[in-house]
Amino acid sequence: MVEIEQLKQELKRINAEAARIRELAVEKRAEFGRQINAKRQEVLKNIALAEKALLDVEVEPIDVTAWSGINEKMPEFYPTEMGSSHPLMAEMERVCDIYQRMGFDVVEARQLDDEFHMFDALNFPKEHPARDGYDTFRTEEGLIPPAHTSTMQHRVLKQYQKQLDETGRLAVVVPGRVYRNEDVDATHEHTFYQCEGVYVSKDCNMGQMLGILREFFEKYYEQKLNIRTQPGYFPFTEPSLEFLIEKPKSLGGKKGDYLEMLGCGMIHPNVLKMAGIDPNEYHGFAWGGGIDRLVMLRFGLSDVRYFESGNLNFLREF
Ligand code: DAH
Repeated sequence: MVEIEQLKQELKRINAEAARIRELAVEKRAEFGRQINAKRQEVLKNIALAEKALLDVEVEPIDVTAWSGINEKMPEFYPTEMGSSHPLMAEMERVCDIYQRMGFDVVEARQLDDEFHMFDALNFPKEHPARDGYDTFRTEEGLIPPAHTSTMQHRVLKQYQKQLDETGRLAVVVPGRVYRNEDVDATHEHTFYQCEGVYVSKDCNMGQMLGILREFFEKYYEQKLNIRTQPGYFPFTEPSLEFLIEKPKSLGGKKGDYLEMLGCGMIHPNVLKMAGIDPNEYHGFAWGGGIDRLVMLRFGLSDVRYFESGNLNFLREF
C-alpha cells in the first residue's frame, strides 16, 4: 500500500513537471515530452505491478467445493476429522453399481407412500390378512412409510413403458429405506434398507432371474456361491420363491448353512395389467431383499441395531 501511495505521488510530480512544457523553447519540447512520457510510463507500469501484487496477497483463491469452515481463516474451526459414508450407504452404492454394470437403471424409492402402492397395485386383495403381515406404520393422514421397496413396482412399470415399447425390455433396481412396526432385536429393525429389482420383456423366464441373482451375489461377495430356492408366497408374484445362498466358508459358514436373502418370482399378470402392460404380450420377474442382512454377512456383524445406533466407534470401523 505504502509503495503504491509513493508511486502515485511521483506520478503527480511527473504530471506537474509535464505542464512546464509550455515554458520551454519550441525546439526543446519534443525531447522533453519524450523523456517525461518515458518516466510516466515507467511509474504507471510500477503502479500496475504493485496493485497486482497486492491482489495476489490479499485475495487468496477459495475452494468453493470445500466443507464448511475451511475457507475461513480460523484454524481452530478447521475440521480435525473427515466424515465418511455410512456403511449401509456405501454398500448400497456397491449394490447399485453391480446392477448398473448388468444394464439396470436405478430409481430411488420414496419414504412416504400410500395404501394403493403398498397393497392395491401389488395385487393384495382388499381386507386380505397378508396386508397385516407387513406391520406397516401409518401417519395420521393414512399415508404409509413403505414397508418394502415393492411399493415402487407400479411406478417403475408405468414410468418405463415407453422404453419397453421401444426396446422390448425394462430393467430397473430400486434402492430404498423401509419401515416396519415390529419389535426390535439383533436381527430386526423398525427401519432398514431394501433393494428391489424389476425386469420385463416378451420372453423372460425364471431361469434368467436366477442367473441374474446368482451373478449379483457372486459379484457382491466376490466368490462362487451355492444357491437354492424354496417356495414362497407373495400376492404380486406367481410363482413366488425365496432365494437362499450357502453361507461362504470365508464368512464363517458351514456346509448346508443356507441363508434366505430375498423374495422373488414372476410378476403377477394383475400387477402388469394394473400398470397398463399387457400380460399376454409381456412377462416380468421381480425380487426384493434386505440390504442390512447382506452387509452384516459381508462384515461378520451380529447385531443389526448397530446401523441405526449412531455409535461412532462402530462407524469408525469402516
Ligand atoms: N417385498 C417383499 C418383502 O419385503 C420381497 C419381494 C418378494 C419383492 C417378491 C419382490 C418379489 O419384488 O417379487 O417381503
